[in-house]
Amino acid sequence: MTGEPRIGDVFGEMLRDALAVSTGIGPRPLAGGRLPRPVIEIIERDDGLVNGAPAAHYLDPPQDWQPHDHRAVDRVRGATLDVGVGGGRIALLLQERGVPVTGLDTSAGALQVCRRRGVRDLVHATVDEYAGASGRRYDTFLLLGNNLGLIEGRERAPVFLAALAAMARPGAQVIAHGTDPYGTRDPVHTSYHENNRRRGRLGGQLRLRLRYRELGTQWFDYLVCSPGELAELVHGSPWQLADVDDRDAPYYLATLRLTG
Ligand SMILES: C[S@@+](CC[C@H](N)C(=O)[O-])C[C@H]1O[C@@H](n2cnc3c(N)ncnc32)[C@H](O)[C@@H]1O
Repeated sequence: MTGEPRIGDVFGEMLRDALAVSTGIGPRPLAGGRLPRPVIEIIERDDGLVNGAPAAHYLDPPQDWQPHDHRAVDRVRGATLDVGVGGGRIALLLQERGVPVTGLDTSAGALQVCRRRGVRDLVHATVDEYAGASGRRYDTFLLLGNNLGLIEGRERAPVFLAALAAMARPGAQVIAHGTDPYGTRDPVHTSYHENNRRRGRLGGQLRLRLRYRELGTQWFDYLVCSPGELAELVHGSPWQLADVDDRDAPYYLATLRLTG
């Protein structure tokens, strides 16, 4: 016993339990084997900061969403790839609206939860694997629930954006939810940003791992960046930053459009 987590499908296990809690069906965390306990996503940062957040919101129905989620789905048009579909909350509404939507995720458990909730078209792959293999083309790519973070940083961004472009139809768009991290004066965060910059990383290039019960993920980079930094990352890619909606600042919705 090292105290280190076993590497596993953290997101999948967590969503499966969150679904069991919300439906009352299936095994779920219980205090003393009887009383329901909330399902909490534990996020560890590599400076030792630990945060916990209830996982239930990944299953929220539209009436409980943030306003920017509604504005994001209202911008969707055409065949849509929901990248990091999670528990399927966005894909389910799109299906209801008659939008052809594919949910892609690296978590087998998350996809099982999506399937049980009624999402029909699901893919278990990374963006790069899917772009190389599928031959399918999309008009809209969604990166919601802060999934702009999947562009990771300066090295990964061009590869990730090229993979999306390889699956894009002419005139395609990316709608991405991000968070501008630089409004904070909390020294825990400002010193993390400074330390990152000293090492040549973007200030908000987080090094994280997720934990749930005895499971953990590998450490991975997840980017929280300002719209200005995003514009720099997109520059020179097949996309251009067409719009930033920051009505819910520090959250924003970035729309990228395929150039050419
Ligand atoms: C923060 S959740 C967002 C879920 C969903 N988009 C929402 O708004 O409710 C992140 C999701 O992205 C998935 N994910 C993480 N890394 C991924 C990757 N490289 N490619 C595809 N999906 C990934 C996770 O398994 C998880 O389901």
